Amino acid sequence: MTTIVPQCIDAKLTRAAIFLEITLKPGEEATNEIRALCGDLSSLERAVGFRDPDSTLSCIMGFGSDAWDRLFGSQVRPSELHAFQEINGVHHAVATQQDILFHVRSTRLDQCFEFVNIVMDRIRDYVETADEVHGFKYYDERDLLGFVDGTENPSGQLALDSTLIKDGDFEGGSYVITQKYLHNLKSWNALSTEQQEKIIGRRKLSDVELSDKDKPSNAHNALTVIEENGVEVKILRDNMPFGNVSKGEFGTYFIGYCSTPARTEKMLNNMFVGNPPGNYDRILDFSTAVSGSLYFCPSQTFLDSID
Ligand code: HEM
Repeated sequence: MTTIVPQCIDAKLTRAAIFLEITLKPGEEATNEIRALCGDLSSLERAVGFRDPDSTLSCIMGFGSDAWDRLFGSQVRPSELHAFQEINGVHHAVATQQDILFHVRSTRLDQCFEFVNIVMDRIRDYVETADEVHGFKYYDERDLLGFVDGTENPSGQLALDSTLIKDGDFEGGSYVITQKYLHNLKSWNALSTEQQEKIIGRRKLSDVELSDKDKPSNAHNALTVIEENGVEVKILRDNMPFGNVSKGEFGTYFIGYCSTPARTEKMLNNMFVGNPPGNYDRILDFSTAVSGSLYFCPSQTFLDSID
């Protein structure tokens, strides 16, 4: 029996990341080149990573629904793989589904850059780049809204149980949803710290969670804590700030892995439509989602087997 090795979904959160989203050009050559890259990806990762192993380079490759069918056929496909569904609630979650995601992490941005450069050198003629975001960790693990981001992430076995498919044809695979958010920092910073804390549901300086008495039902961490069969269930996030100071662009690239996209979709629904409807996430009064995609990240064993 083959042991299925997942991609490194639960890699340590790092100081730097590149999120690269691309679309495939038409034609069989493009399909063949990407398939060949799938099979070589782990060897490229070893080549770049080994030059500085302490920097923990890792790359996760994910595929959108249409790209999956083109690359691997539509006969056997991950059962919950579909294009990102837009949400028209109090706020709008746009759908901008792309074909392929590379989530590249390292403690060094130059190592992420080197890796992505080598990958793109191979496939540049066969793809269009939809977006390339260079993320960084802000001081104290904060996002650009000034709050510590990532505290309640699952770790260890819980992270694996929350993110990986347990059995079947796609054992070791994971679904990931990405969204790029732009913040209106001027209006966010015009709020008092107490108002901001009620929106996030945690204290700004200490990161301590608000008590049930102080936490409003539309706090971010009230709407994104969800249960299945009476048990709280998790996704694994590795959000990164990004921006361009002189252009006044301040953002968070949201990325959330889960063994089923339905869980992350439920959280999104709670945020954009509200729970109950109308009781929406006020982060969205200050942050606009400008992209939205859903990808399936098959196991490493699956990728290695592609030629
Ligand atoms: C502008 C975008 C976002 C920002 C700035 C943001 C920020 C934060 C912050 C500061 C926390 C509290 C610390 C922590 O536990 O990590 C948090 C928690 C969380 N967020 Fe977000 N978030 C964003 C979008 C999202 C989205 C789109 C989802 C899911 C679809 C999500 C899911 C969660 C979850 C599950 C938690 C943990 C709740 C808990 O267990 O207490 N976030 N987020």
